[in-house]
Amino acid sequence: MTQRTLVLIKPDAVRRGLVGNVLGRFESKGLTVVALEQRLIDGEQADRHYAEHVERDFYPPLRAFVTSGPLVALVLEGDEAIEVVRAINGATDGRKAAPGTIRGDLSVSNRENLVHGSDSPESAAREIALWFPDL
Ligand code: PPS
Repeated sequence: MTQRTLVLIKPDAVRRGLVGNVLGRFESKGLTVVALEQRLIDGEQADRHYAEHVERDFYPPLRAFVTSGPLVALVLEGDEAIEVVRAINGATDGRKAAPGTIRGDLSVSNRENLVHGSDSPESAAREIALWFPDL
């Protein structure tokens, strides 16, 4: 089933010059870039994106991190794209993510973990509408 999913290449990846590496993994897998834009977001956009987490203890440092520099937001399309992207991203905590995944190869943090991918069809629809309302 063809799906679309929202991906963020987070500020740590931009700072470390890893945008091409991360994007290349998605493209090499066969996913299609439908929309892509580099943005510097404010706290309100972070709150909207992470609406389900704003009350969590870990949210204040996460909010500070995602607003700390430019990120790249994109929409990817492909067969089972939501699950495929999450498999390519790897487990949330880079210290535990499997080698071969983005986080497993390139991150040792559960905050500075380089990428976000929508976790369900409902999240993908909400996040795509938030980041790319014209799609
Ligand atoms: S949960 O509880 O399963 O819903 O949360 P999880 O999917 O593991 O994480 C949701 C997002 O929060 C980030 N996260 C953190 N940020 C900062 N500090 C800590 N300790 C922390 N723990 C989790 C995590 O990277 C997820 O971000 P996204 O962008 O959704 O991948």
